[in-house]
Amino acid sequence: MTESIKITAIINIMITNTLETLRPKKLSDYIGQENIVKTLKLFIDAVRKRGKPSEHILFYGPPGIGKTTLAYIVANELKGEIKVTSGATITKTGDLAAILTNLKDNDVLFIDEIHRLPKPVEEMLYPVMEEYSLDIIIGKGPSARTVRLSVPRITIIGATTKLALLSAPLRDRFGLLLRIDYYHNKDIEKIILRSSKILNLPITKEAISQISLRSRKTPRLANRILRRARDILEVDRHTVIDEKLVDKLFSLLEIDANGLTKIDRDYLEVLGKKFSNLPVGVETIASALSEDVRTVEEFIEPYLLRLGFIKKSSRGRSLTPKALSTIKSPSSLPSLFS
Ligand code: ADE
Repeated sequence: MTESIKITAIINIMITNTLETLRPKKLSDYIGQENIVKTLKLFIDAVRKRGKPSEHILFYGPPGIGKTTLAYIVANELKGEIKVTSGATITKTGDLAAILTNLKDNDVLFIDEIHRLPKPVEEMLYPVMEEYSLDIIIGKGPSARTVRLSVPRITIIGATTKLALLSAPLRDRFGLLLRIDYYHNKDIEKIILRSSKILNLPITKEAISQISLRSRKTPRLANRILRRARDILEVDRHTVIDEKLVDKLFSLLEIDANGLTKIDRDYLEVLGKKFSNLPVGVETIASALSEDVRTVEEFIEPYLLRLGFIKKSSRGRSLTPKALSTIKSPSSLPSLFS
């Protein structure tokens, strides 16, 4: 390994470790989403009592709201090991077979972005989910035959941001479907406080509130902002993360009072300025932003829709009156359309 690859590997491990440290390990440490936590507790208690393998679980909802964290918690509570993969990386049936042969009874296979599984892989998953069997086709053409192999009694946890893209047969094989939504501000504040205690960071109430307001109601963003605040705290030798420090951070990161980042504001500007707020198709917006359509649809638009800043119609996207009035206010950084 060359020196630079070694250093990159160490940095990656350090980043992963920080994320791992902040991730709650038990349901009792999980903040917010009370109904989800209650449902999962009941489900896990019932599985433990029956002593049989757990039914499969599907989490769906926007990115960054804790689907992976919950999968880790379920695996931990069921005393199984977790193997993490993604629908986008399992490209062939052989990939799935290879993953399954490395698992053992009671393990959890977490498949993120499960809606991206190719159809043949998805079909191979059905007997795994129903009967812990793997059907392998040997040979080609008329002489092809299917061999059925046993696989360990695992629990599959799927996660998706796009439930509608999941086929009905796959969806129906999950025994528990849970929709995880954005968090309340007070819960994001509690998560920031918990993370700052774990990372040993002095922080004021006001700074917690400011970070919470700009973290789009998602724990992942809140924790990311907190880690960047820690950079300023350490490099500029502050004694505490206070309002002044986070103000400096937000202008550095270009995050405005609504939690909008530069790319969100660019999106709004494309609609409002470039296209005079006439309805615009997503492909046109994506090319005006030099982004791909998936990034626009999955990462930029959900929060703008949630804020009520844009509306979608069959003719395209346009700004709402709420967006127009907010954008012109001085708290929008930097002011658009001026
Ligand atoms: N870190 C990230 N998400 C969390 C949550 N929901 N509860 C506690 N800590 C978290």
